[in-house]
Amino acid sequence: MELSVVASAPVKVANGCMIVPLHSGRKLAGMAEELDKKSQKAISRAVKRGDAKSELGEAVTLFELDNVNIERVILVGAEKAGDLTTSQYRLFCQAAAKSLSDNAAGTVVVHVSSKQFAATESTQWHVKELVQALIAQQYMFTLHERQEKAAPPACKKCIIVVSKAELSSAKKAAKIGKAVANGQAEARNLGNLAANICTPHYLAKRGQALAKKNPKLKTKILNEQQMEKLGMGAFLSVSRGSRQPAKLICMEYQGASSKSKPIVLLGKGVTFDTGGISIKPSASMDEMKFDMCGAASVFGAMQALCEISPSINVIGVVAAAENMPDGDASRPGDVVTTMSGQSVEILNTDAEGRLVLCDALTYIERYKPQAVIDIATLTGACVVALGKVASGVMGNDKDLTQALVQSGQQTGDLAWELPLFDEYQKQLDSNFADMANIGGSPAGAITAGCFLSRFAAEFKWAHLDIAGVAWQSGAGKGASGRPVPLLLNYLLSKA
Ligand code: BES
Ligand code: MN
Ligand code: ZN
Repeated sequence: MELSVVASAPVKVANGCMIVPLHSGRKLAGMAEELDKKSQKAISRAVKRGDAKSELGEAVTLFELDNVNIERVILVGAEKAGDLTTSQYRLFCQAAAKSLSDNAAGTVVVHVSSKQFAATESTQWHVKELVQALIAQQYMFTLHERQEKAAPPACKKCIIVVSKAELSSAKKAAKIGKAVANGQAEARNLGNLAANICTPHYLAKRGQALAKKNPKLKTKILNEQQMEKLGMGAFLSVSRGSRQPAKLICMEYQGASSKSKPIVLLGKGVTFDTGGISIKPSASMDEMKFDMCGAASVFGAMQALCEISPSINVIGVVAAAENMPDGDASRPGDVVTTMSGQSVEILNTDAEGRLVLCDALTYIERYKPQAVIDIATLTGACVVALGKVASGVMGNDKDLTQALVQSGQQTGDLAWELPLFDEYQKQLDSNFADMANIGGSPAGAITAGCFLSRFAAEFKWAHLDIAGVAWQSGAGKGASGRPVPLLLNYLLSKA
């Protein structure tokens, strides 16, 4: 979608549409009032009849109002002017985007001012959220289809109108919103791809392709031989049952001086998780193609960074492997030595995410990072704890974990902290090694975090368990592209 931000309202929009908020209260306000006057009260009558409502989620399209040179006016419920919460404004944006996708307008015009919606937030914030909602609504996964099932979206252009004073900041916000939405779409695409296509090798190629397009990005790939040399016994224990060799993909974005310490994002890239010898039940096992959604969010975030080009150094690392049962696969009870030197008893081969991540964490030490954030579909227990609403946040630095929770609130890509109390660590005790890879069923998301913490002592670190939020099941099955918005919000706050 082509975006432009302007400071004056276009009077006429050919083949177009205007999104107009309809606030509650007896009197129409803002653009609704203006159009009402021009059209001899057409909007007032629609409200009176009950066709147009101010409740959130409501939207109605009026066509060819008299004396108004716009083909469609979409009245979108916007409750009390200036009084919306951030999540209510997001609902407004979603309703607007949805109704737009239901009609044939080629161009859409929207006036945005913060006073009209959530007075607590800036116009910039409003513009960014709106752009993200409009682009996200147009997302379609078609990479596996011979022909596109649905026609491509009619709306090709969006004109956002703001006040003169806010023009330059709104332009920046629109650019960021677009880059984040595109990054999120990239994460959804990678997540949705079938696991016979989206292999560790495929992800590595994607990392190289991204670097080819962007001069600020360099991609380095480690193969199994190189990982073997580094002593990554845990990581390699996961891929040994698979015909697909593991890859460690490092995408280095340099936007600031090389002296500035990088933030490292580390994604779990298990391209398919059968559970290995501790095999999963077959119902819904197809959804384990989404077990690389942490990696997908790293790709999405790196792509968005390349598009925004902020002055910051960020390294995206993806630990990619496939977890399969095989004559050569790891057995329950096997003991492996990690790159850190600590040994691990693999009591359950289905707790593989932490095994690929722990060696990647040790590897990351060489970047001397200012902070490390790992993102992983790590535990079913996190879905039990926080549902499909919030990612679980854990870590060894309060400022970092709180900053991530705050980024969640600012973007609606919610996250909530779970405690890594020392008291949980003993659940990982092993009779035969430095630790076991599982801690029993109580507090399963936390003991997974505890396991990772033992490999993250050298830096400020946070872990995002996205098992609940990375995809949806059922009729709308598909990857969500979360937590790309949260990650970008955090990274840009550091630029
Ligand atoms: N990829 C799964 C976690 C998962 C399960 C995410 C269901 C989303 C939905 C992970 O590798 C796994 O299998 N974890 C086990 C850990 C257990 C064996 C300690 C789990 O959560 O059951
Ligand atoms: Mn597993
Ligand atoms: Zn897994």
